[in-house]
Amino acid sequence: MSYLLSLLIGAALGSIPFGLILTRAAGLGDVRTIGSGSIGATNVLRTGNKKVAAATLVLDVLKGVIALLVCQYLWGRDAGLLAGLAAVVSHCYPVWLGFKGGKGVATAAGVLLAAAWWMGLIVAGVWLATAFLTRISSASALVACAAAPIVALLAGDMNLALFALVLALFVAWRHSANIRRLIAGTEPRIGKGK
Ligand code: G3P
Repeated sequence: MSYLLSLLIGAALGSIPFGLILTRAAGLGDVRTIGSGSIGATNVLRTGNKKVAAATLVLDVLKGVIALLVCQYLWGRDAGLLAGLAAVVSHCYPVWLGFKGGKGVATAAGVLLAAAWWMGLIVAGVWLATAFLTRISSASALVACAAAPIVALLAGDMNLALFALVLALFVAWRHSANIRRLIAGTEPRIGKGK
């Protein structure tokens, strides 16, 4: 029962489409009609409004943090991890938007941060370093995803490494179209449209 409730709580939190809510509230239109069509912060930035993009990023991270911490507090570690995973999946496939949402990076970052703050910080650092070098959000997300299970493994936490691997594979899979554009050399830089 606690696992089912964790799934529901995680999915409910993850399904809140902050990117869409904030862009609409700011009079920027429907973010799904621009760029990649994603409701994530990277695509919100393509509206040209940095503050709304930053707010989307923070709130999407918080969805992951809160889902994990609340369920972990109520029912233990496994329930927390399950809620975190549900939040990421639900962010990508929100029931309210016909299952078309974001790519899960910010919410996954929040889940990793809440699961083990040191891992979250290292992975965020890897994202920032890659973004500094490439100026490409998806490439940074993919490198950060690859780093997450490796960091946990190096720290000797096999359970966390397996969890991070599942999360990373899911987020990488959500980036299939980005990977095709990266290979074709057509993936836009951060802040640029498509
Ligand atoms: O965080 C999402 C990013 O990795 C890719 O977003 O909109 O360029 O597909 P987008």
